[in-house]
Amino acid sequence: MMIDALKNRVIRKLQGPIAPYTIRSFDQMSAILSWILDLSDETTGSLDFNGKSILEIGTGNYLNHPISFKVLGADRVLTIDKFHHLSLEQSQSSLSQNALCRRYFSKRITEDQFRERFTPFMAEPLSLNRLQDLGIEYWAPFDLLEDRLDQKFDVVFSYTVLEHLSESMLADFLRASLVPMKPGGIAIHLIDLEDHKRPGNQPFEFLGDSREWSESLCAERGNRVRASSYGRIFSEMKDECKWTCAYQSVRFDPERPSSIRPEVQHVDERDLRTTTLLYVGEKIK
Ligand SMILES: C[S@@+](CC[C@H](N)C(=O)[O-])C[C@H]1O[C@@H](n2cnc3c(N)ncnc32)[C@H](O)[C@@H]1O
Repeated sequence: MMIDALKNRVIRKLQGPIAPYTIRSFDQMSAILSWILDLSDETTGSLDFNGKSILEIGTGNYLNHPISFKVLGADRVLTIDKFHHLSLEQSQSSLSQNALCRRYFSKRITEDQFRERFTPFMAEPLSLNRLQDLGIEYWAPFDLLEDRLDQKFDVVFSYTVLEHLSESMLADFLRASLVPMKPGGIAIHLIDLEDHKRPGNQPFEFLGDSREWSESLCAERGNRVRASSYGRIFSEMKDECKWTCAYQSVRFDPERPSSIRPEVQHVDERDLRTTTLLYVGEKIK
């Protein structure tokens, strides 16, 4: 236990300088975004970001999503976060990894469009003023559940945010995310249901953890909410938004704790072992 905790601390320290060049590089994140958008297209028809306004909920440390949406033609992007986690320095570093992103985006934009839209982000050091000039606003601290947002958006997007909220907050959070959507607007939420401590080989370890699952454990490892509960929460909002589960991945290979905590509600083994959900919604006019 102690060794694991120590190892995790060292990894987290190392991730600062390494992540922008690896797991959080612009190349890596644009590949994931392209995959998400391709899956969303199957529900919405080919998504066109030209001239659109985008709201990203839960910026985190990086600006890969807002910059990608601008590269895909969005007119403006507002990215909000409850906490000021953004690192402009690391965001800048992640942009240096840009050999492959043009290929991932080539289905949606031409090479010339890519160059014309991406180059300005590389031309000068990133600053909030510079970003604003380029059509990206960052608001933090901004709590979607508490703060008022008067603007309306064509697309509302979140990536690995919902699983960090405690279950009791999820419905309110989703309702709040519908408010800034234009009628006919699109919502895209990617949810990671794995234990964030050791997702590779122990993705279900937290389901057997006997501690009271606090907000800080939700933030660190995920809320343990299973696919069927997300399904129920989304379906509670079906009069305001037509939701589709556009993707669900299930892992049957890794071991899971033999005893699952009673508070982890689930309907069957597949439900327990669901590791990713992508929900796409179209706001009803
Ligand atoms: C795991 S991070 C994901 C960050 C980013 N999307 C990424 O993938 O790199 C989740 C983010 O959601 C933010 N968040 C949580 N609750 C929020 C709320 N009520 N309003 C706005 N942001 C929130 C957190 O502060 C955190 O930065």
